[in-house]
Amino acid sequence: MLISAILLLGLLSLSVAEFRDVKHATVIEFPALNCRKHSAVLTGFGGVGDGKTSNTEVFKAAIANLSHLAADGGAQLVVPPGKWLTGSFNLTSHFTLFIHKDAIILGARDETEWPLLPVLPSYGRGRDAPGGRFSSLIFGTNLTDVIITERQSNLRKMINCFRLSEIILLISNLTLINSPSWNVHPIYSSDIIIQYLTIIAPVDSPNTHGIDPDSCTNTRIEDSFVVSGDDCIAVKSGWDQYGIRFNMSTKHLVIRRFTCISPDSATIALGSEMSGGIEDVRAENITAINTESGVRIKTAVGRGDPGFNPKALPKIKGINYKDIVADNVTYSARLEGIKNDPFTDICISNVDIKLTAKPKELQWNCTDVQGVTNKVTPDACNLLPEKEIDCTFPEERLPIEDVKLKTCSISDNI
Ligand SMILES: *[C@@H]1O[C@H](CO)[C@@H](O)[C@H](O)[C@H]1NC(C)=O
Ligand SMILES: *[C@@H]1O[C@H](CO)[C@@H](O)[C@H](O)[C@H]1NC(C)=O
Ligand SMILES: *[C@@H]1O[C@H](CO)[C@@H](O)[C@H](O)[C@H]1NC(C)=O
Ligand SMILES: *[C@@H]1O[C@H](CO)[C@@H](O)[C@H](O)[C@H]1NC(C)=O
Ligand SMILES: *[C@@H]1O[C@H](CO)[C@@H](O)[C@H](O)[C@H]1NC(C)=O
Ligand SMILES: *[C@@H]1O[C@H](CO)[C@@H](O)[C@H](O)[C@H]1NC(C)=O
Ligand SMILES: *[C@@H]1O[C@H](CO)[C@@H](O)[C@H](O)[C@H]1NC(C)=O
Ligand SMILES: *[C@@H]1O[C@H](CO)[C@@H](O)[C@H](O)[C@H]1NC(C)=O
Repeated sequence: MLISAILLLGLLSLSVAEFRDVKHATVIEFPALNCRKHSAVLTGFGGVGDGKTSNTEVFKAAIANLSHLAADGGAQLVVPPGKWLTGSFNLTSHFTLFIHKDAIILGARDETEWPLLPVLPSYGRGRDAPGGRFSSLIFGTNLTDVIITERQSNLRKMINCFRLSEIILLISNLTLINSPSWNVHPIYSSDIIIQYLTIIAPVDSPNTHGIDPDSCTNTRIEDSFVVSGDDCIAVKSGWDQYGIRFNMSTKHLVIRRFTCISPDSATIALGSEMSGGIEDVRAENITAINTESGVRIKTAVGRGDPGFNPKALPKIKGINYKDIVADNVTYSARLEGIKNDPFTDICISNVDIKLTAKPKELQWNCTDVQGVTNKVTPDACNLLPEKEIDCTFPEERLPIEDVKLKTCSISDNI
């Protein structure tokens, strides 16, 4: 076992060295879920990177061409240095979209470049237009094994969002700038890794959520940074009666080493569209700078249309917070359960909150909650009495946490 592993490594570095020698080209190495047998460059399909010419048909033709290689080791499409104007295009399976560090993908302003898609079954209504939603810049459905990556880049002006379905997905090292809506929106998907992602939206822009895992299972978000006017991460699972009927929860989500700036919204919001349920969300090593709240649970007694039970009560239980330090805080916690439907089993331990020069008088504003606290300053509310307890963080790891990336390479001679 050990020997074969060493052999394999030897072979790999040999082939890289040989490649360098023969081609006299430098090789860009990058981590990815799977390396691809075939590689093509956008210019090979007639792409023009002048920032003015539309490349929508070029992206479509290139990806359609490369989709035929899915069963033969897969393919990667390299977007070389330049400014690549494009409307929406769809990805394909067993595919890597590799964006060079000096490449910028610009979203086209022409609305005809953004097809209207049917409503999502768990929402039952359009968000952008009546009865529909605009396709994202980079979109895909029913995909598997897709990688969208970029070698560390400078900030780029880019109108962008992803909506991808049923997918094994890696999004890494991208910078998304000035998306008009949610930036990254995986829905009905599983096994997703999002890492080294930077999202910049104006802090006064509405609805520019950073990352929205929506009815997704096994998602890992790490080492990423979001500035937004809305929630940095919003965990979702469908809307009202449609979400209840569709009944697909978001579960097994781990967020780690994540930084958020959002003066009017939350670092991590659960909801408000969460009718399919949310369970097993873990957040570790989160930095919130100038945010309105750290974690916010947005729910309410049933909202909705005729035919939907307006009295339906959500069930919120088992929320643990531990090892938190905070500075310059106006109020420590607002924990607002629902009348006759308290949030239960809340546990908060080892929390040290330093207040601003003019703090609110009522530091812990709690209603309709039940649980315990330990080693918390300032003192918590009466509804969360002190108990000698260290709130738990799940010990068993999620399978997605241990997914290791391979080292793949492309020639830098593009
Ligand atoms: C893809 O492009 C290559 C190179 O231009 C061409 O030889 C091949 O026929 C194309 N494949 C398909 C399926 O269009
Ligand atoms: C992408 O695929 C969807 C179906 O999932 C389709 O409705 C849409 O037109 C496609 N978009 C483009 C730009 O081809
Ligand atoms: C995706 O897969 C589902 C289930 O297999 C199918 O009903 C749907 O038509 C597919 N969508 C697309 C755009 O291929
Ligand atoms: C993404 O960034 C990380 C951390 O800087 C780096 O280790 C990794 O190689 C980068 N990936 C690519 C595709 O450049
Ligand atoms: C939703 O699915 C879960 C299993 O995932 C099941 O236990 C539950 O009864 C379902 N709820 C409804 C309303 O169908
Ligand atoms: C979180 O930070 C602590 C202290 O720096 C470190 O020991 C731990 O490994 C980190 N955990 C993760 C998941 O990054
Ligand atoms: C504390 O927050 C206030 C705004 O709430 C800000 O004006 C002030 O600069 C902050 N102080 C520090 C030390 O960050
Ligand atoms: C406590 O929070 C409620 C909403 O949850 C708000 O209406 C009320 O004004 C707050 N009280 C104080 C004293 O801040």
